[in-house]
Amino acid sequence: MKVLGINCSPRKGGNTEILIREVFRALEKEGIKTEFFQLGGKDVSGCIACMKCRKKEDGICHQKNEAINECIAKMLKADGIIIGSPVYHADLSADTKALIEVASYALRGSGSPLKHKVGAGVIAVRRAGAIHAFDSINHFFLINEMIIPGSSYWNIGIGREKGEVVKDEEGMNTMKVLGENMAWLLKKTAGKGKKKADEESVLSGLKSEKTDPAGVPVTKEEKNKKPKKKR
Ligand SMILES: Cc1cc2nc3c(=O)[nH]c(=O)nc-3n(C[C@H](O)[C@H](O)[C@H](O)COP(=O)(O)O)c2cc1C
Repeated sequence: MKVLGINCSPRKGGNTEILIREVFRALEKEGIKTEFFQLGGKDVSGCIACMKCRKKEDGICHQKNEAINECIAKMLKADGIIIGSPVYHADLSADTKALIEVASYALRGSGSPLKHKVGAGVIAVRRAGAIHAFDSINHFFLINEMIIPGSSYWNIGIGREKGEVVKDEEGMNTMKVLGENMAWLLKKTAGKGKKKADEESVLSGLKSEKTDPAGVPVTKEEKNKKPKKKR
């Protein structure tokens, strides 16, 4: 069993990453594998409503969104998903929002392949806005028919400067308990009811995906188009 932790903070090694790794520690103690993915700071964009993912029903973003497509492929292979965000302006970071918009719209158009996976949001905050950001991540898990474990408090760690969150004893303990509860839930639900078929069909679409020189996925119609004869 594997849990993917996605860091949507552009500050590598910062408080969000520390919180995700604290959940990882508890998961690994329970024998669950972990994989860290740095999304924050990469070239990502939110949904532009082109509807190509819905027309093709392939769970892929057809804009230049390589990092998010890579993340989608990793989400499909994981049994559990942690999405970590810092609070920016009493809300999610823009990179977290881009991931949620794009992944949710693309995947829900291809049969809810995240169904029955376990999901947890993790928030780093200086002072205000954490509950709102936490709720927004949970909306992603809930509409994708995922299961959310609780902890001894809401999954929030307090700190401003890089590394400051380790001083928030209660926040760090919340991450430890979250990891333990996530492991418990993963073990209880292992191999039960997951929609493997949907997951595999999206993954095979991602593998066969062709991109143009700019890294933009090429649609089926574009692939089959015959080159125009030169006059
Ligand atoms: C652009 C920006 C906006 C922020 N807005 C808020 C805010 O509204 N409320 C708050 O409590 N902290 C805010 N912060 C502080 C961060 O949430 C805090 O420093 C957090 O620990 C950063 O996590 P990181 O180290 O993973 O990047 C903001 C930080 C930045 C850079």
